[in-house]
Amino acid sequence: MDKLFSPFHLKHFTLKNRIGVAPMTRMSASEDSIPRQDVLDFLVRRARNGAGMVYTEAIVTDYESAQGYSGQARMLTQRQIDAWKPVVREIQKTGSIAIMQMFHCGRMAWPEVNPAHRTIAPSPITPKQDNPLTKSPYPIPDTMSRFDIEHVITGFVETARGAIEAGFDGVEIHGAHGYLISQFLSSYSNKRSDDYGGSVKNRFRFAHEVIQAVNKLIPDDRLLITRISNWGVADMEVSLFDTKEEYQEIIKLLSDEPIDAISVSTYEFQQTAFGTGKNMAQLAREVTELPLILCGGIYDRASAEKALQDADIILAGKSALLNPHWVEDVRTNKTLKRYKSEEADIAYTSEALP
Ligand code: PHB
Repeated sequence: MDKLFSPFHLKHFTLKNRIGVAPMTRMSASEDSIPRQDVLDFLVRRARNGAGMVYTEAIVTDYESAQGYSGQARMLTQRQIDAWKPVVREIQKTGSIAIMQMFHCGRMAWPEVNPAHRTIAPSPITPKQDNPLTKSPYPIPDTMSRFDIEHVITGFVETARGAIEAGFDGVEIHGAHGYLISQFLSSYSNKRSDDYGGSVKNRFRFAHEVIQAVNKLIPDDRLLITRISNWGVADMEVSLFDTKEEYQEIIKLLSDEPIDAISVSTYEFQQTAFGTGKNMAQLAREVTELPLILCGGIYDRASAEKALQDADIILAGKSALLNPHWVEDVRTNKTLKRYKSEEADIAYTSEALP
């Protein structure tokens, strides 16, 4: 059976295939936090090429401290929401589903691009490496107070409300890549001694509160997804979870949340973790029945099929970005190249995407 192009039931949705376009940032927005029109249209083109699921770029959840890169988008004002409506409609017309991904950068934020010029995080420690955009160290973040925690949760809630109003089929809470939620989950960045730090359960508390608050406004006919990873975009060599047990405990805690799928982000999906001989998706599968979405090094039919042995849906980033025919090329089993990260830098220029 052709599993890759077989339908998948995700809550009330039937995805037409198992292929999704990964969330990818273009940093194309101006002051209005609305992406350039050609950037919005790019998502529609990928749906027309056959992807069963299309993610937005990571949407910034507030105007205070969430933003980490210039030109990022928000979904908080009527104008911002209205800009996405035709995009969502066109994606849905193709039979694909549209998911809004949202995040707060935490200690990875760039204060100067946030109107309130602030950086906040679970603990006042920075990544070891410099910010590649500013070429200087990340500023030491303020330790998040109880007020900050509630304020940030409100940002996630309001952004999700914007997405529902825009017509999105679902929202994803970005808990991966060393951004704020991931910073709470990991002992590498969370040194708190209150209810939000220490044990795995405590480090999970912030994710729990975000998910619970967002879930309250997600209608029953829409999806709620959470993304997780063991790697972060800064200090990439660091394993964000200390052990297999810790990772699996987090997956179990996520499984008790009102979410419809877990998205596991890797750099290379086949890479084994924690000395177990198993990859991140396999380790998740051992402890959860939730549908799994997987990305990392999927670039042709063979790699997509291999990844689907460990997950229910696969996502492509660079290939979907750079090859407008990628889904069709996978369907016909065309010989495809594996793009390098540098090739994807075109995403950050004013050049229109294919
Ligand atoms: C990420 O999830 O790694 C990410 C999100 C937004 C960006 C860049 C990277 O602008």
